[in-house]
Amino acid sequence: MKNFRINLIPGDGIGVDVIAEGVRVLDAVAVRHGGLKFTYNKLPWSCAYYLEHGRMMPPDGMTVLRDCDAILLGAVGFPGVPDHVSLRELLLPIRTGFDQYVNLRPIKLLPGLVSPLKNDDIDFVVVRENSEGEYCGRGRSDDNGAVQEAVFTRKGTERIIRYAFEYAKARGMTRVLSATKSNALNHSMVFWDKIFNEVRVDYPGMESRQMHIDALAGFFIMHPDRLQMVVASNLFGDILTDLGSAMLGSIGISPSGNINPEGIYPGMFEPIHGSAPDIAGKGIADPAGTFWAIALMLEQLGEKPAADLLMDSLCAVLKAGAATTPDIGGRGTTTEMTDAVIASILGR
Ligand code: NAI
Ligand code: MG
Repeated sequence: MKNFRINLIPGDGIGVDVIAEGVRVLDAVAVRHGGLKFTYNKLPWSCAYYLEHGRMMPPDGMTVLRDCDAILLGAVGFPGVPDHVSLRELLLPIRTGFDQYVNLRPIKLLPGLVSPLKNDDIDFVVVRENSEGEYCGRGRSDDNGAVQEAVFTRKGTERIIRYAFEYAKARGMTRVLSATKSNALNHSMVFWDKIFNEVRVDYPGMESRQMHIDALAGFFIMHPDRLQMVVASNLFGDILTDLGSAMLGSIGISPSGNINPEGIYPGMFEPIHGSAPDIAGKGIADPAGTFWAIALMLEQLGEKPAADLLMDSLCAVLKAGAATTPDIGGRGTTTEMTDAVIASILGR
């Protein structure tokens, strides 16, 4: 029996609901698999925790968090605590502190999903830089103005672009597209392009090109079928993947894996959506992004068959339709959709 220790950070709003359901699904996967066991350590770090303690996590938070095989996060942020506080004091310190420099975001129209696009041949991956760039947090501001800096190191830029090429190569992809904006961002993105051009030389069999982020946003809508691998900076990748998830019909569907490829630190897996205060407490949050994130986690833990079991079950429920949540056209609640996924897992 393999035992994996999972640290849970449900966070705020619908994050709490989707993580509770994610745990039920993971337990069902363990039962059906027979050789897996998951033990959980649920951490209360959230905006509610902040209002009580004046901080998003305790001083020894990173030490507590490190002691596990993987981290599962719901979403963080709620009215009452400024978003830059909740993000910068919990989510971003974990991503950078654990050197989770890869943010892996598959965008795929799963069976049963209906894209708002006419061209719905959608199956690609965005590799987002996750440790520096526009989200480095440096700058200054006062009443008269603000300066926000972006940091692109050679190490940080090269490793993410190389990861994208390696990932693409290992999965038989033939195209890598780099998101840039080097016409306007005359330092950071000119440097990004330079590194992209250095790295691509090592992959002669791979068709590689760059596109300005504004044109690329249009390309996502017009020609999604031509996308295979997109590599992007922290900000660009963030925006492109919300767009990508909307192309699948809902922001509630897409997952995200924050990965330290060297395996020195645990990875953190989460849906890409936020805490959705507008639907929090209504019981209709789409849990699909969390289930898909759990599948990414299982794959990262070396349990590909378990990941496939979960994805096959999720796809069966999406295809049947009725039990899904309203954002993707169904009439189900979060719990009803989860029950359907669990029944599918156990029935296989
Ligand atoms: P959001 O993703 O929470 O919501 C955007 C829209 O999508 C809302 O209308 C919401 O109802 C809908 N939506 C999101 N997830 C859904 C789901 N699973 N099922 C059905 N509908 C869903 O983004 P927003 O409104 O910009 O941010 C809300 C809060 O979440 C803010 O405090 C923000 O900082 C935080 N946030 C946290 C993230 C994280 O923890 N990784 C990521 C993005 C935002
Ligand atoms: Mg985002």
